[in-house]
Amino acid sequence: MSKISGPAAAALASLCPDNVIFLQSLPKAELHAHLNGSIPVKTILELAQKYPPSGAHAAEVADTIEKLGSGVDFNEISDFFFLMSVIYALTSTPEAVATVTRAVLQSFLNPADDGAESPQCAYLELRSTPRATTHMTRERYLVTVLDEIETYPATQAALIVSVDRRMSDLDLAECVSLAIEMKNRGRRVVGIDVCGDPRSGDMRSFTHHLSRAKGAGLGLTVHIAEHTANTTEDSLALLSCRPDRLGHATFLSDELKAFESADPCIEICLSSNLLGKSVASLDAHHIHYYLKNDHPIVICTDDKLPFRTSCLGEYSLLLAQPPLGLGLSRDDVARIARMGMDAAFLRPRDCRSRL
Ligand code: IMP
Ligand code: ZN
Repeated sequence: MSKISGPAAAALASLCPDNVIFLQSLPKAELHAHLNGSIPVKTILELAQKYPPSGAHAAEVADTIEKLGSGVDFNEISDFFFLMSVIYALTSTPEAVATVTRAVLQSFLNPADDGAESPQCAYLELRSTPRATTHMTRERYLVTVLDEIETYPATQAALIVSVDRRMSDLDLAECVSLAIEMKNRGRRVVGIDVCGDPRSGDMRSFTHHLSRAKGAGLGLTVHIAEHTANTTEDSLALLSCRPDRLGHATFLSDELKAFESADPCIEICLSSNLLGKSVASLDAHHIHYYLKNDHPIVICTDDKLPFRTSCLGEYSLLLAQPPLGLGLSRDDVARIARMGMDAAFLRPRDCRSRL
């Protein structure tokens, strides 16, 4: 069984068996999961055995991998980005990228290994940043990921191409062009995401690239107001591209939350926010604002590797009684799950009704 821990595990453990079965059987959409942040620990350990760390930081990398095996504690956002550099060292070839993509897809879409017959989610929009290494181009990376995604039906899995806030204009242009090209070739790219260290990048220089992606028919989701350092100008630049969905939106001011005309769905990642310490407690979580205002939301895992969670774990946080969870009713939780399904980028729409 893939072990979860922390707040999601505590919430799940507090539920009666009947409520667990209810949550397992709810069709859920996972719309905010980063490929390299969602790799099962077992797969990382296997890759580390196959490709032992080398180079200047070999000892530090080996140490991080060992910690992962024994259950890691992430205290700071910088810990998270160091872990990512370790994972990237292990997934630098097309073969390794195919291996981890397959493992991540299985972990979400194949019957769960927790004894339930239902998978973690019914529909997955996995996101990943096209990465060029000495072994592959960005295009090869994307094709490798798509080859794995397309082994599942279109009603179950699709790809969102992430661009990183730290990217140069040239790299950004290349990633957006690749995403559009793949879509036009009939490959299953459904959207663009802006991610990466929230403290970096000037989003004003991203807008024309993002608008180009939207103009080409791709859905747009952006990590927004994820950190206290994110300014109103930063958020305004991203909102000016009229994103369809917003990742986190933790520190979005009430003024900006009014969203004027558009009604972007908010991708809520409870464990990620609690463990990443951007939100102090469930009580203080911005989900309350969106629920109160009847605003569309979707419940997601973000990076289930470091945050040790699962779709079931995140939904448990909705249903469990306070202080372990939000204490929502089954009807409310089922309504939230439906909102998630409705927020998918997947086209055509009739594909959705068959989910
Ligand atoms: P990848 O895009 O498949 O390589 O997934 C890992 C990457 O996703 C990281 O290097 C980050 O750029 C991005 N990412 C994962 N989680 C977060 C987050 O919470 N905020 C911003 N970026 C993130
Ligand atoms: Zn994210």
